[in-house]
Amino acid sequence: MAGDTLARIGTVSLNPAFDLTIPLERLEPGEVNRAAATELRPAGKGINVSVMLSILGEPSVATGLLGAEDVAAFEAFLRPMGVICRFEPVPGRCRINVKVVETAGGRVTDINSPGTAATADAIPALQQRLLTAPELMVVSGSLPPGLPLGEWSGLMQHLAAGGRRIIVDTSGPAFGAALPAKPFLVKPNRSELAAVLGRPLVGREALLQAALELQQQGVRQVVVSDGAEGALFLLGDARLWVRPPPVPLTTTVGAGDAMVAGLAAALARGHDAEAAARLATGCAAAAVSRPASALPAAAEITRLAAAAHIERL
Ligand SMILES: Nc1ncnc2c1ncn2[C@@H]1O[C@H](COP(=O)(O)OP(=O)(O)OP(=O)(O)O)[C@@H](O)[C@H]1O
Ligand SMILES: [Mg+2]
Repeated sequence: MAGDTLARIGTVSLNPAFDLTIPLERLEPGEVNRAAATELRPAGKGINVSVMLSILGEPSVATGLLGAEDVAAFEAFLRPMGVICRFEPVPGRCRINVKVVETAGGRVTDINSPGTAATADAIPALQQRLLTAPELMVVSGSLPPGLPLGEWSGLMQHLAAGGRRIIVDTSGPAFGAALPAKPFLVKPNRSELAAVLGRPLVGREALLQAALELQQQGVRQVVVSDGAEGALFLLGDARLWVRPPPVPLTTTVGAGDAMVAGLAAALARGHDAEAAARLATGCAAAAVSRPASALPAAAEITRLAAAAHIERL
């Protein structure tokens, strides 16, 4: 993985997917629903982060576990964007996640499949690949079925060894099991943070206290996203609440992934806290307001980043 790339950032996808997006004016359960157009493309959170990084002009290395039969399709999608593909093939095909996006109101119905189980030798083989991974690594998304949590936390420790900065965006037990490796940055949303701490988080103050707890556990930077309200950014000593500018809503699919990509690019570029929070918010706002079936434009990200509203806490 080293030497063949100028990429400063890597993304790890342990359970990538094809996203099948079905736009409908309104979903009628139990009825025949006719979609005008559907889109099937390689996705999963780590892949989405690599795509957004390319839009930001930041080439990345995409690695992780991928069904052997789908490696070529992922490479054909990612390579033209400048993403360097270094997947560890596992037997079989990757899953398909269905997203029904209602144009009237923007509601999204997700039907996610569990994915292909990782074979016993997959994680050691991936660890071998990761020895030469970039210094800044984004680990996003769910775990493949059957992967023991101990193997997952071992993988995090392995990545963190050697001083790599890890950004973690996952949920449930996988999120909790990643914390002992002291990731450099985590980006839960409100409910993911509440779940990992085992208590409801209502209001801003509760969110701030919860994020500070993660910092006390050794996570340097904590960003908690809160949907249309924006996000809390604890970046070093800076405590910011950043609200996106008003945007027309196309879809919330990938909003969090776009935010993570902005945070990773800001870290790679050495941005200060305010510039990082602006870039992350600009990416997220551009993602939710992108034209249907299109990727957000770099110029739009810049415009929305500048228009974000920053409040110091
Ligand atoms: N409806 C919206 N309008 C404007 N901006 C939004 C909206 N929803 C999300 N965002 C922006 O995207 C960011 C991330 O959104 P959110 O908190 O929903 O992430 P998430 O729950 O991690 O999403 P994902 O499903 O991608 O994992 C927010 O902090 C905000 O800046
Ligand atoms: Mg998320």
